[in-house]
This record gives sequence, C-alpha cells and structure tokens, in this order.
Amino acid sequence: MPVISVINYKGGVGKTTVAANLAAKLAWRGRRVLLIDMDSQASLTFSFVKPEQWRDDLETDGTIKSWFDSFEDGQPMCLEDLVFQPEDVTKRLRRTSGEIHLIASHLGLINVDLDLATELGGATVSKTKAAFLRVHQRLRNGLSALVDQFDLVLIDCPPNFNVVTKTAIVASDHLLIPAKPDYLSTLGIDYLRRSLDQLVEDFNDYATSGGGAKVEAIDPKVMGVVFTMVQVTSGKPIAAQRPFISQVANLRMPVFDQWIRENKTLFADAPEYGVPVVIGNRPSGQTYKTVVQEIERFVDEFEKSLWP
Ligand SMILES: Nc1ncnc2c1ncn2[C@@H]1O[C@H](COP(=O)(O)OP(=O)(O)OP(=O)(O)O)[C@@H](O)[C@H]1O
Ligand SMILES: [Mg+2]
Repeated sequence: MPVISVINYKGGVGKTTVAANLAAKLAWRGRRVLLIDMDSQASLTFSFVKPEQWRDDLETDGTIKSWFDSFEDGQPMCLEDLVFQPEDVTKRLRRTSGEIHLIASHLGLINVDLDLATELGGATVSKTKAAFLRVHQRLRNGLSALVDQFDLVLIDCPPNFNVVTKTAIVASDHLLIPAKPDYLSTLGIDYLRRSLDQLVEDFNDYATSGGGAKVEAIDPKVMGVVFTMVQVTSGKPIAAQRPFISQVANLRMPVFDQWIRENKTLFADAPEYGVPVVIGNRPSGQTYKTVVQEIERFVDEFEKSLWP
C-alpha cells in the first residue's frame, strides 16, 4: 500500500487542491484511496465535509489530532477508527468501484506539534535517540496496521517542516511536490530537497546505530514536482514562467510533463462543493474540459510512475 505525501513548505501552491483532485480521479478509475489531512488549516477536510458535520461528528474524537493526543494520554487509538467516507463525494462515486476515505484534521493540530516537540527531549543520548525514533515513526507504525485496506494513501501536508510533517515524510514511500512557477517557489524547492535529505539522514543514523528494537531505514522518493496555477497562452506556459519550470528540472528533481493551469473561477468554488473539480458535475464549457483534461493527464503520469 504505497504512501504518498503531498508536500511543499511554501503555502498556497495548490497542495490541497492537487491532493483532492488526484484522489478523486483515482477513485473514479476504481481505486480505493485513503486521504489523510495533516494540516491544522483543515482545508482538505473542509473540501469534503461541511463545517456543521465536522463540529457534530468529528471535532471531539474523530480527527488526526485525537489520534496524536491519544498517545500523550497513554491510550493509543487505532487509525482505522478515524477513517470514514465523506458523503457527497461517495454519492458521486456510486457508479464506480472506487472509494475515497478520509481521516480529518483539526484546527488544534498546531498544538500537537508542540507536544511532539516536548516529547523529543531526552536526558541522555540514548534516550534522545529512542524518543526521536518513537515520535517520528508514530504515523508509519499506525499506517502499517491498515496494510492493503486501500490501494494508496495520500497525505496532505501543511506548509511547514514541523514534527507532524516529519512523521508524514517518515511514513511515506513517495513525495509529490506541487509548486507555482515563480522565483520564490523555485528557491523553496531546493531548500525542501535539502531539508528532506537531512531528515532521512538523521532518521537512518538513529535507526541503524544500534540499541533498542531494530528500526527499518527510510527512503522516501521524490515522484516529481507538478506545476500548478500555470498561466497559459496559446496552450503553453507564458514566457515569464517557463524559465522557472526548466530551472527546477535542473535541480536533480523529476518534473511532471503535465502542469495544471490557473483558473480562479473553477478552483475557487471547489471547497464548498464537496466534490473535487475533476469529477464535478458541471456545465460543460471548453475551459472546464481543458482543466479536467490537464488533471487527467497528470493523473495518468502519476499512475504510470507509481504502478509502472
Ligand atoms: N490551478 C488553480 N488555479 C486557480 N486557483 C487555484 C488553483 N489551484 C488552487 N487554487 C486556489 O488557490 C488557493 C490555494 O490552494 P491550495 O489550498 O490547494 O494550496 P495549498 O498549497 O494546499 O495551501 P496551504 O499551504 O495553505 O495548505 C485555494 O483558494 C485554491 O482554491
Ligand atoms: Mg493545503
């Protein structure tokens, strides 16, 4: 069961939009997808679930925050108990064999980062090592109990590199990096690459340096950068954006051939709709068709890369 984190610590680059649409299209094609919202902004959660439902059914003990908290309380929950199928998108998928399952997030997840950071302290070197591995492996271990219940797991990460994000990376086989083709995003990708390398090195140092139980090394692979919010002229990215796309390809980073264009109208109303744009039931206009086609081609590449 491949685990993929959608990550970039630059904010607002389309991570959540890519995660939701990718999941929806894969489910439309018959796959069982588990989405995990690891961002305290909970945008992914609220693109599938109405705020009233979140308050009534999930807020108290039904989110990823409850799961992290349960370790602090000494009575760990099972991730499985948090998984549910959001209603609107499930209705939309009823004629397919695919499924979208979700583990929701919580606005208070931000405090979990503080708790985890506190748990990382240790009085001795060996205690520090043990704490590092215990905390960073938490999600990895949690997911191993769900093995083969889904065709893949997609984790929507927050725009930071805090401990919660690191637990997602440690749990991942692959990383998908949405980015905007502009100067700061390009700088950010290089920085992200270095932070990822550092985390993998630290984890594997601790994992292999003896003492305690045996821990398997990690090796999350960057699947690629997918450019989003691309401005298009005559079917191509505008001249001002093209250099940034080629620059990323020069950073020893794989880049998806297909990008996704900027379209404020289509993407802006998505969060209130309950069903991602790519499988939405919308009036057929040429722009809508073009956007759907771009997402579909990106999903084709994603599938080829994951299941060659
Ligand atoms: N291709 C697009 N064209 C136009 N607007 C888009 C596009 N993709 C996403 N958006 C909009 O841009 C905003 C940010 O997108 P999104 O929430 O997916 O980014 P994010 O990287 O997850 O942000 P954050 O870092 O805050 O989690 C949202 O309002 C979304 O609807
Ligand atoms: Mg997001």
